Order: sequence, then C-alpha cells, then structure tokens
Amino acid sequence: MRHLMSPLDFTTDELDKLFDLANEIEANPTKYAHACDGKILATCFYEPSTRTRLSFESAMTRLGGRVIGFSDANSSSAAKGESVSDTIRVISCYADICAMRHPKEGAPMVAAERSGIPVINAGDGGHQHPTQTLTDLLTIRTLKGRLNNFTIGLCGDLKFGRTVHSLIHALSRYENINFVFISPEELRVPDYIIELLKEKNIPFEEVVRLDEVLPSLDMLYMTRVQKERFFNEEDYIRLKDFYILNTEKMQLAKEDMLVLHPLPRVNEISVEIDDDPRAAYFKQAQYGVYVRMALILTLLGLA
Ligand code: CP
Repeated sequence: MRHLMSPLDFTTDELDKLFDLANEIEANPTKYAHACDGKILATCFYEPSTRTRLSFESAMTRLGGRVIGFSDANSSSAAKGESVSDTIRVISCYADICAMRHPKEGAPMVAAERSGIPVINAGDGGHQHPTQTLTDLLTIRTLKGRLNNFTIGLCGDLKFGRTVHSLIHALSRYENINFVFISPEELRVPDYIIELLKEKNIPFEEVVRLDEVLPSLDMLYMTRVQKERFFNEEDYIRLKDFYILNTEKMQLAKEDMLVLHPLPRVNEISVEIDDDPRAAYFKQAQYGVYVRMALILTLLGLA
C-alpha cells in the first residue's frame, strides 16, 4: 500500500507516467468513466478548501467512484476530541482511499501510519501540499512541454506557503532550474529549504522587488499571504498587498511567461490579468482534476 505525503514520494519517472496518464484522461475521459466503479474516496478536511476537496471529489466521481467525508473538523468527531489515528482506522473500514487536509504539520503522516487504506496529504499546515505540486508540474509540462531548463519566480508568502515549499522540493530534482524567490523580508523561504538548495548546488536568488526580476522569468508563481498562519493581524495587514501583479507589471514580462497561482487569489493578481494569454491559473485548476484522477488510479493499483 502506498501513500502520498510529499511530491518526492514519487520518482521523476513515476511522475512522468502519472502525467502521461493525466494527459490521456484529459484526451479520452470516457475510457476512464467506470475505472473506479465500486470504490469510495473519503475526503477528511480539517481545514477550509474549495479546489483541493472539490477536485478530488470531482476526480473520483468522474472515475465512476463515490465520495464520503467531512469538510469541517467541527462536523466530525474531532470536535469531541477524537485523534487523527483513531479517525483513520475507522475511515479505513468505510472507504478505499482517503484525502486528508489538516492544520497540523505531519497529521496526514500520522494518519498514514495507522491507516488500512492509501492516504493522500491534501495540505498539512505550512508544510507540504503535494497534490497541488502535481497539479503545478502537470500544468508546466503540458503548457511548456518540459520540466527542466527554466527560470521560475516564486512571489509572495514564501514562509507559510506550503504550495511553494512542495514545488521547490519537486523542481529541485529537474535539470537547470533557476529559482528566484521574491518576498518581503518577513516572508522569506524557510532556512531548511535554502540549506537544501545550497547542498544540491541549485542556483537561487532572493529579492524583494518583483519588477526588477520580472523580465528574466519564464514562469511566475504568485501566492497569497497566508492570513490563517499569522500570529499577529497587524503584520498580516501590513504585508497582504505587498505584491499586486497588474497590466503595467506584465509589460515587463516575457511574451510567453506563464503566470501560475495555486489559488485562492486575494489581491495579488489583478483581475485585469485574467484575460492575458499568459495567465494560466484557471487552466491549472482544471489540470488539478486530471492529475488527481491519475493519482487515485495509481494509488488504488488501477492504472
Ligand atoms: N490550491 C488550494 O489548495 O486551494 P484550496 O485551499 O481551495 O483547496
């Protein structure tokens, strides 16, 4: 039995197979419409979500399976004090696979250790968000045709943004990736990730100003400031609109630069950018369904 806790749980060859399958599902959805007949996905979300939970539910439904779960810890027995370990042992009796989001870092890992079914980390605190990373990689591979040889800017809340942490880990395995980290001083990439890049001799730079680096980027991965992870509301208010990507800034960017964002967006990308052909964030959300369909099939041994 296999779980997904980190994007590094799959080798790059396995990821290629997963992305090939996701592209095939996109091209030929009817072929997979009954692939999960009789299977049940449990979505256990102890934290809010729109995309991750609903794209998992859409993915399983499109595969012919069914979905059970909860979208709020307060509507589960967690509100009565039940542990994640006990919950997953029970869910293992009801479902064939589980996607879990939890505010505590490592909670899905604790669940996986006691689970009788595959567990997918659907986001744990400020730590990792592997299925968003699969979505990001599939989007880049499909739209750019490769996962190597590019300069990617990651902009915004690089301290608390778990999608950023997972994506850096995942991209660090591909050839000739240059990272440009764009954040206010207070929201820099955590030291443990910087150390990892240094150890692997992967080039990166850290800057505060977006306009200075925009012309050099092949991709810009924007992120919102993670309000829910701040201890102090004053700090959040001071930093929340630090970056706003607008038409004027986009004039500095390459003509084929992709703009990615895991969403939800707050103010960091002006809505006027949505019609720019370089804006790929809604396509990215669509790819999230195909890659989760491919992941469910793979973890259930049905691929
Ligand atoms: N990208 C993402 O994780 O979105 P949700 O929080 O809506 O699931």
